[in-house]
Amino acid sequence: MTFKPATWPRKLRSQEWYGGTSRDAIYHRGWMKNQGYPHDLFDGRPVIGILNTWSDLTPCNGHLRELAEKVKAGIWEAGGFPVEVPVFSASENTFRPTAMMFRNLAAMAIEEQMRGQPIDGAVLLVGCDKTTPSLLMAAASTDLPSIIVTGGPMLNGYFRGERVGSGTHLWKFSEAVKAGEMTQAEFLEAEASMSRSTGTCNTMGTASTMASMAEALGMALSGNAAIPAVDSRRRVMAQLSGRRIVQMVKDDLKPSDILTKPAFENAIRTNGAIGGSTNAVIHLLAIAGRVGVDLTLDDWDRCGRDVATIVNLMPSGKYLMEEFFYAGGLPVVLKRLGEAGMLNRDALTVSGGAIWDEVKDAVNWNEDVILPVEKALTQHGGIAVLRGNLAPKGAVLKPSAASEHLLTHRGRAVVFEDIDDYKARIEDEALDIDETCVMVLKNCGPKGYPGMAEVGNMGLPPKVLRKGITDMVRISDARMSGTAYGTVVLHTSPEAAAGGPLAVVRDGDMIELDVPNRRLHLDITDAELAARLADWTPGHEVPEGGYAWLHQAHVEGADTGADLGFLKGCRGAPVGKDSH
Ligand code: FES
Repeated sequence: MTFKPATWPRKLRSQEWYGGTSRDAIYHRGWMKNQGYPHDLFDGRPVIGILNTWSDLTPCNGHLRELAEKVKAGIWEAGGFPVEVPVFSASENTFRPTAMMFRNLAAMAIEEQMRGQPIDGAVLLVGCDKTTPSLLMAAASTDLPSIIVTGGPMLNGYFRGERVGSGTHLWKFSEAVKAGEMTQAEFLEAEASMSRSTGTCNTMGTASTMASMAEALGMALSGNAAIPAVDSRRRVMAQLSGRRIVQMVKDDLKPSDILTKPAFENAIRTNGAIGGSTNAVIHLLAIAGRVGVDLTLDDWDRCGRDVATIVNLMPSGKYLMEEFFYAGGLPVVLKRLGEAGMLNRDALTVSGGAIWDEVKDAVNWNEDVILPVEKALTQHGGIAVLRGNLAPKGAVLKPSAASEHLLTHRGRAVVFEDIDDYKARIEDEALDIDETCVMVLKNCGPKGYPGMAEVGNMGLPPKVLRKGITDMVRISDARMSGTAYGTVVLHTSPEAAAGGPLAVVRDGDMIELDVPNRRLHLDITDAELAARLADWTPGHEVPEGGYAWLHQAHVEGADTGADLGFLKGCRGAPVGKDSH
């Protein structure tokens, strides 16, 4: 940690718009004054953009306008000038074909909203899965001082006295209906119990994972991740973050000061400890690509391999985010990593200090929620990175969500060419499949779907479910919801639509999964594989125009973060020419 605050006062970039007596300055100030702002607000104080991903169609972020008022209060108190700016909001539960296709579009749009407007720093008001990485990517590319405030998770869901986890129970109930263990009417009754307050998914799904990643990276104030959306302390956190960003601008504390390799290593280990989503792999790789940090899939395996999963939350465990907060939240986990020698203690955070100083006094109030290491859900909780002739550039699996007995498995491939093929045939009683088979799904990667949908945890065939079997090995180039579970190999790279070996797997091929040895092998000869690949021709649709075309043409592989190639890197925030 070598951060040295800049001197203050000094001229900020917003003064390029608002400073002085020129015609242009009068033009910029004058229009702003139609909102009733007094003249002295344009005197050189930090102008803070509250980049708000509120949208009625992003229900997980539906409360962020109220939260923005608390952020504004904090900015005013610290002597800043808050301006609330609506930004692209990609909802996980609404956007088609998949919100992931629009993460990069959002990041691109927001980057330019930051660069092209008179703001000196930003509060990134986020929540639903893709909103957190897209704003972090934008902030990293502009390198303007930025702080994350997440909307917080929903309260626990309950159905007939049992906890109901967002997403996790949607998959469970859906499988129970198919297996004949639950009626459709009961499923509908359960629907209302799943989302009983504002906020993001209440499991350790992707939203909670990314909130935890932001905190572990040092981009949010300590304790931010777990506070429930409706808890008054969430609003306090928003106000404190508003105060803090003003000082960050004065100090010129930028994302590039915080988002260092040690910070990413802290986040990777944290992901293992919390049993976090596999989506964090792609998002952290993409964020690192924006700040020029050399982060690879191998870092995920290296850093996460020996991290025990100690947070007992669904989908890997039993509880929900509300209990995680009451138990002490992420600071307890970071403290435990620090005590185990797994935290880069000096990593800088938005506080301006070292992460260890933020967490060293944290207390665990419930050892059934944040477990002692000897009672961990798994001793090897990190993301396993698999390689082999089926995934030359890697594939990932989340051991804490997988079945122990399937981590080493050899089985006959049952191949689905794409998601439509899967949907058309999975319930066919004549499908030649049993629980020893390996389900293979192609053409669901970044180019193939397009956008890399969360369909990797494909549901099991009803005839297998009726035997009481709840897990099978599944392999695809898709992603999986952070709320999902199972022995599911994801992000297989190169993807099928880019001509990866996954594209040429055939029904009846034997596949070997060996997680302890990080191996994923298609049991055919090298010559046979080469011949099949030589015969392969692309079959997926190529969009004719629009963003879908841009995405298709420029999206990179999951193994490097699935960013658009031309968006990688930090372009800074030059103020550019005035147009008047
Ligand atoms: Fe938005 Fe889970 S779907 S947070």
